[in-house]
Amino acid sequence: MSKDNIGSRIKLADGHTMPQEGLGVYRMTDEEQLIKSVKSAYDDGYRLFDTAQMYGNEAAVGKAIKDLHVNRDDIFVTTKVAEDNQGYDQTIASVEESLKKLQLDYVDLLLVHWPIHTHFFETWRAFESLKEQGLVKSIGTSNYGMLHLQYLATKANEMPVVNQLEVHPYLSQQAMVDFDRENHIVTQAWAPLGRGRIFDDPVIVKIANQHGKSAAQVILRWHFQRGDAFIPKSVHPERIRQNADIYDFELSSDEMKLVDGLNRNTRISQEPEMVYEIGHQYPHH
Ligand SMILES: NC(=O)c1ccc[n+]([C@@H]2O[C@H](COP(=O)([O-])OP(=O)(O)OC[C@H]3O[C@@H](n4cnc5c(N)ncnc54)[C@H](OP(=O)(O)O)[C@@H]3O)[C@@H](O)[C@H]2O)c1
Repeated sequence: MSKDNIGSRIKLADGHTMPQEGLGVYRMTDEEQLIKSVKSAYDDGYRLFDTAQMYGNEAAVGKAIKDLHVNRDDIFVTTKVAEDNQGYDQTIASVEESLKKLQLDYVDLLLVHWPIHTHFFETWRAFESLKEQGLVKSIGTSNYGMLHLQYLATKANEMPVVNQLEVHPYLSQQAMVDFDRENHIVTQAWAPLGRGRIFDDPVIVKIANQHGKSAAQVILRWHFQRGDAFIPKSVHPERIRQNADIYDFELSSDEMKLVDGLNRNTRISQEPEMVYEIGHQYPHH
């Protein structure tokens, strides 16, 4: 038996720690379903919940957390500033609004949802100021490439401690993950399951059968052994539990290499460079 468990935390460069695994809540728009999913996840040991202004469910996440009746420091909440809310004043106002909806005094992690070329530095200055005020504990980015991070570094007082990226076996982003690591930034994988598109892959299925685990569990175990953080989403209690039950088996180095070898550089989302240029990812046009 491995001593790893869903309670594993990763140290961030700002001194805080973050659970390595968490629950994503994108597309959970039914309030009752979201509240039940958060409750089941908490009971299974999840402590990190990942929402965003764009998901339109921060208020439901707030209710779900309140219903847990737990100490604030027992959970870790992430939200993200939408493209429409970028800019110094708008970012500050939108985060104050997010905190109201979430019924929280602070969020543990605030991310810039997508890079856009307008307000690029003003938004980040607002992030630094929100952190200084204690309204957010850690600040980070999402969907930032190397050039976005290098450009940010020319004016930032503090660099992001997390970069949330689309990462799964069909988009392993090895170079970007290495770059983040070299720069003391934790990569957090969104769509870690490839949104379900990888479950039938014969390599994954074969490895899963050998371990008596599901395809989803093999994929999440791959993330875990790579050292990334990851936030699978499910609204089904049995899947939420299954996704947390990945700490009692290990992929061999050969199996890790086989999964690494599945990379096709195919994305679910648009290229971050395209979003940077046109100024929005959501809603998809
Ligand atoms: N920063 C960004 O730009 C960004 C973008 C997208 C997502 N995210 C975040 O990342 C989180 C995860 O990404 P995602 O939701 O896009 O995709 P994902 O977690 O890779 O996949 C979710 C899909 O897989 C299914 N699923 C989950 N566990 C399963 C299992 N054990 N067996 C079979 N099917 C399973 C879910 O269905 P059911 O729910 O029906 O079980 C859902 O359809 C999001 O919720 C969000 O918090 C961030």
